[in-house]
Amino acid sequence: MTTVRSLHLVSRPEGHPKDSDFEMRDTVAVPLQDGDIRIAVKYLSIDPAMRVWMTEAKSYWPPVPLGDVMRSAGIGEVVESKNPKFNVGSWVSGMTGVRSELVSDGKGMQRFDASRLPHPGWALSIFGATGLTAYFGLTDIGHPKEGEVLVVSAAAGAVGSAVVQIGKALGLKVIGLAGGPDKCAFVKDTLGADACIDYKSENLSAALREHCPDGVDIYFDNVGGDILDAVLKRLRLKARIVLCGGISQYNAGGETRGPANYLSLISARGRMEGFVVIDYLHRAEEAIAAMAPWVAAGKLTSKLDVVEGLENFPEALRRLYTGANFGKQLVQV
Ligand SMILES: NC(=O)c1ccc[n+]([C@@H]2O[C@H](COP(=O)([O-])OP(=O)(O)OC[C@H]3O[C@@H](n4cnc5c(N)ncnc54)[C@H](OP(=O)(O)O)[C@@H]3O)[C@@H](O)[C@H]2O)c1
Repeated sequence: MTTVRSLHLVSRPEGHPKDSDFEMRDTVAVPLQDGDIRIAVKYLSIDPAMRVWMTEAKSYWPPVPLGDVMRSAGIGEVVESKNPKFNVGSWVSGMTGVRSELVSDGKGMQRFDASRLPHPGWALSIFGATGLTAYFGLTDIGHPKEGEVLVVSAAAGAVGSAVVQIGKALGLKVIGLAGGPDKCAFVKDTLGADACIDYKSENLSAALREHCPDGVDIYFDNVGGDILDAVLKRLRLKARIVLCGGISQYNAGGETRGPANYLSLISARGRMEGFVVIDYLHRAEEAIAAMAPWVAAGKLTSKLDVVEGLENFPEALRRLYTGANFGKQLVQV
């Protein structure tokens, strides 16, 4: 009999998520009904928003109920099938949850050809929600025009690194913001940004003045907080702020800090607009069709950061909030 491991949310975290907020449970694998598939989960996508899903906060998705398997996107291989649409051996992606195995009726599971990707994990990065977030956030909300100045925070991260590269492919001047010299070197030398500001060691306002002397046309915000405030002071006329995420605020409990310098939007006649990638899932093919040629031309790549073991999910999640991750954070199950 096969044992299935699953990680359950057992308490609402205060501050950074702790190991004790989760509990690993072992159960016996259930037999398949007609129409079911058994998925051996291989990789989990570790996303900053998971911290929000763990709270009672009102969001685009309901909170994960206490006692439930922690919500997660993942990919895996079909190892048994009673559903004619899914062959044994095929790869699927979907909301698997933090577990080693999932029995599903196939609804919400997308098949993909892992042999055509540099690594199966790309189905969770460039060709998954991460890539769609970067592509639609920049194009649909940012409305980029060639030659404009784009600033991207968390530029060495999963979404940010894709935004930097897409921005360059679209002919923008791209300034990345990242924590530390290694990440900044990566943003410049590998991703092709025009410059990268190490916000942890440089004076951010002075560096933005230096690199964006005429101001910022598009700010792709992944972090919020002080960084958003610093960029708000440098907006160009008709600037767009793409409100993708605010990771600096996710562990703040009820103390989320709003931007102090939002009045700059008035004089800049600027716009700040949030979006959620789930509203774009039906347009996935459009984004993939646009990005695939950039991947083929070597203009768009994805760095994966893989932590091994389902039991290390809490640590992998914490890495996002300390900046320990370097690239798309995955857990290999
Ligand atoms: N709107 C949507 O639909 C959508 C979809 C996916 C993701 N997102 C958002 O996009 C953002 C990036 O997600 P991701 O998956 O690509 O994660 P990621 O960028 O790969 O990892 C998070 C990064 O955030 C930076 N960071 C952490 N704490 C910070 C702080 N206090 N101040 C400044 N930077 C901090 C760290 O980079 P450094 O080491 O450089 O500081 C860290 O590596 C998140 O805010 C996420 O919620 C939104």
